[in-house]
Amino acid sequence: MVFSKIRHIQQLGVRCRSSHYVTTPIFYVNAAPHIGHLYSAVIADAHCRYHRLRYPDTEVRLCTGTDEHGTKIQQAAAAHEVPVGQYCDEISARYREVFKAARIEYDDFIRTTEQRHKLAVSDFWHRLQSRGYIYSAAYSGWYCVSDETFLTDSQLRLDEASGARYSLESGHPVEWTEETNYMFRLSQFQDDVRHWVQQEARIRPAKFEKILLDTLSEPLPDVSISRPANRVHWAIPVPNDETQTVYVWLDALINYLSSLGYPNEQYLAHWPPAQQVIGKDILKFHGIYWPAFLLAAGLEPPRQLHVHSHWTVDGQKMSKSKHNVVDPVEAAKQYTMEGLRYFLLREGVAHSDGNFSHVKALRILNSELADTLGNLLSRACAKSLNPHQMYPEPHVEHLSQLLQHLDAGKRLQEALFHLAGRCEQHYEGNHFHLVADTAIAALHAANNFFECAKPWELKAGGSSPNAQRLQTIIAMTMDALRLCGIVLQPMMPQLTSRLLDKLNVPIAQRSWRHLGESFAAATPGNGPESHQLDEHSSALLFQRIVEQQDKPIEQRAQSPAQSKRSKSKRERKTSATMS
Ligand code: MSP
Repeated sequence: MVFSKIRHIQQLGVRCRSSHYVTTPIFYVNAAPHIGHLYSAVIADAHCRYHRLRYPDTEVRLCTGTDEHGTKIQQAAAAHEVPVGQYCDEISARYREVFKAARIEYDDFIRTTEQRHKLAVSDFWHRLQSRGYIYSAAYSGWYCVSDETFLTDSQLRLDEASGARYSLESGHPVEWTEETNYMFRLSQFQDDVRHWVQQEARIRPAKFEKILLDTLSEPLPDVSISRPANRVHWAIPVPNDETQTVYVWLDALINYLSSLGYPNEQYLAHWPPAQQVIGKDILKFHGIYWPAFLLAAGLEPPRQLHVHSHWTVDGQKMSKSKHNVVDPVEAAKQYTMEGLRYFLLREGVAHSDGNFSHVKALRILNSELADTLGNLLSRACAKSLNPHQMYPEPHVEHLSQLLQHLDAGKRLQEALFHLAGRCEQHYEGNHFHLVADTAIAALHAANNFFECAKPWELKAGGSSPNAQRLQTIIAMTMDALRLCGIVLQPMMPQLTSRLLDKLNVPIAQRSWRHLGESFAAATPGNGPESHQLDEHSSALLFQRIVEQQDKPIEQRAQSPAQSKRSKSKRERKTSATMS
């Protein structure tokens, strides 16, 4: 069993128990990023941010980057009449810009065209070769450039009318290819990979484990891991054979190692990845090829794959030809980048495809971020109720009265009491929609409490019982905002930071353990001391989005020519407004 051969590496893992290494897929640079790509990155980022909050002693490391070799990239650069290296630089930079705007807090951004990666690929190849897992053979089959993979007959659809064949799964065309390649003995890893897949919570959600096990119930064929250099020249040369280049998927998967400094042994401090986030379309590569490559090289495969489903737009697959590709930068102009992050995590579920619809985005962002969260902060900070701009402490006797005699008070206490535990459970499974549900339910309870307690009927200022009751209502409301702000940090880092800034919560008091400090805690009286709000921060968190007169955002995704035309229209409009 190959597993026994890597036991020594698992033992080495003992010394790096405090590392939590997370990866996103690396993104093809054939076209600009869209919301689907951003989604993979936002899931990984929110997961890491939660881990940093919850486990401050763990070293969390997030790696992302761009996948820059292969026919697909070669062809895209040629179609744009740009030298391929320059084309990669440009699109890779677009990814970095989008990730910066979306606050993807990565520790490394790797590009497969970097020297450090090429060295890692070369070393990995030698490992596979020296262990006898590579051989040369004449190979023929149907190659799908768009998916960068050979497909078997059962993975194809024949169009009777034209005689053309297409990938069943992606719908992209395939071409017949006959060449001499290096092959990897994947067939020898059938049992090992099955054993790896079947470990508890290895593949999440379970539906994708089943898909892998179905594939593994048929004999695994060996796979081609090189292409002739005269066909695919934009790739890493096979060590000691200039006539061949390394297959783009073997090249790409190794990025997870090269980012850690492999082959230098320092990589063992973080290896294996605790979680790899991938979309469902690349399950076979990460769930079968990747563990087999690693086992063959004597390395430990990842601990967990988190697989997510796809975004469609108004029920349709995003595609350039349908002009419905949603550009995150454009979408953020309308929803804000924090709003977009929230919508993706709040609406997306891992096990089935999500539908990106402008109407739905507007409804959710307005009702949850503007009306439920934002409005409550504005009300609690209103000068009429809170003339001294304080985050007060509750008065003990008023607190117990409000909790005993006001149902809405009891309900708020109950929601906040369970908030940390419930959200923790949801974050652990990357169920971000359930985290949002839980936090929004607590905020609904807080809004309801505020309505029922009627603070506007009480007179502010002074130390009358009336004023003390009002302070207690404000204190309870601010506790709800603070706890929900802490809990939602991984999903909306910037918006929650503005919320917590306004409430003047010190950075050191924004971690998971501070969720136990509020009026609703088991030991009351351990909330923050009465303090001033931050006068420099705005109480306006999220402005309601007003429906624009023109078309919804997905219909505004355009071809470059259309976009040029409407840009000059906009420019005309702007100059008309200015004159
Ligand atoms: N380069 C490969 C991955 C190599 S990893 C060693 C690749 N790149 S990709 O740019 O095509 O896709 C990157 C990620 O974006 C994948 O997780 C993919 O599932 C995700 N998405 C691409 N389109 C998507 C949607 N429409 N919706 C959600 N995610 C989607 O594959």
